[in-house]
Amino acid sequence: MPFRVAVLPGDGIGPEVIDEAVKVLKATGIEFEFEFAAFGGAGIDECGEPLPPKTLELCKAADAVLMGAVGGPKWDKIEPVSKRPEIGGLLSIRSELNLYANLRPAKTMEALIHASPLKEGRSKIDLMVVRELTGGIYFGEPRGRRDNGNTAYDTRLYSRHEVERIARQAFEIATKRRHQLVSVDKNNVLETSRLWREVVDEVAKDYPQVSTSHMLVDNCAMQLVRDPGQFDVILTENMFGDILSDEASMITGSLGLLPSASLSDAKGDAVFGLYEPVHGSAPDIAGQGKANPIAAILSAAMMMRYSFGDRETGERIENAVEAALRDGLRTADIHEKHTQVLSTSEMGDAIASRL
Ligand code: IPM
Ligand code: MN
Repeated sequence: MPFRVAVLPGDGIGPEVIDEAVKVLKATGIEFEFEFAAFGGAGIDECGEPLPPKTLELCKAADAVLMGAVGGPKWDKIEPVSKRPEIGGLLSIRSELNLYANLRPAKTMEALIHASPLKEGRSKIDLMVVRELTGGIYFGEPRGRRDNGNTAYDTRLYSRHEVERIARQAFEIATKRRHQLVSVDKNNVLETSRLWREVVDEVAKDYPQVSTSHMLVDNCAMQLVRDPGQFDVILTENMFGDILSDEASMITGSLGLLPSASLSDAKGDAVFGLYEPVHGSAPDIAGQGKANPIAAILSAAMMMRYSFGDRETGERIENAVEAALRDGLRTADIHEKHTQVLSTSEMGDAIASRL
């Protein structure tokens, strides 16, 4: 049976970059069944819902989900906010599909090393942010307003179970990398962080081969700029992970090139996951063939590795991307002197042909 991939192109540059990811997957020679569905603003336009029930069903029936990006000015003012692409789309699909483990690798690409804003030599990084994705302040209840709207509140809530399962994922990943894990929290202030630390320490006992430490989030933000090379796996909660993963991606100098995976529990021996670029929908350049498809293509590589257990194909795709960059091929966003500017689909072709 071919792998069933639910494809959600989404909005803005999403459809363009997803086309290239699908192109590269087809070029691997592996047989896939791609099923496309509307999501985000496109879902609202098609049937009034950012996450149409049909789309959700399709995702649940698939082996993995490949997503572009969602949102844009057209849908930014929709009321209630729960109908906007980011909340009714992105947050809902994470929660509905139980995608609690968000993997955001930040790795320097040799060919782009001088694009890092950090001083030469400081900037080489190869780390993985493992972000809890379905709990914490993004989802905690109650939330709302009181005092005639003049006071607002959100709730940061974590259960032992939620911390334990994300910690296990992070430790498992650390065992396949450089065996170093830093758990990030704000345990000097927050009760959720004290529980977090307690549970991480318990899980750590099952992984004596991993060296584990704790770091406060403010210190981590600073250490990422001071010496990002010190990190291997960073394990953290939802909102800290949102912020730190943006920071980590920027210092690689290749922000627009980074993929992500959002994983659930294993179904049988395959891990169900949703794969998407870290970048957004970039409505300002949508439809012009200027978007960089590399993050989407590398997300497809992560899909091969994590959901299909096919590390070799994942590496083949990653190597093809690096080869294209080494050959001086660039999209406009990462163009420099002496490099050649390609359109979105030309870059997809160049990578597919290097597989
Ligand atoms: C991300 C985004 C989302 C998040 C927003 C759009 C809801 O910033 O995927 O990092 O905060 O999780
Ligand atoms: Mn974010």
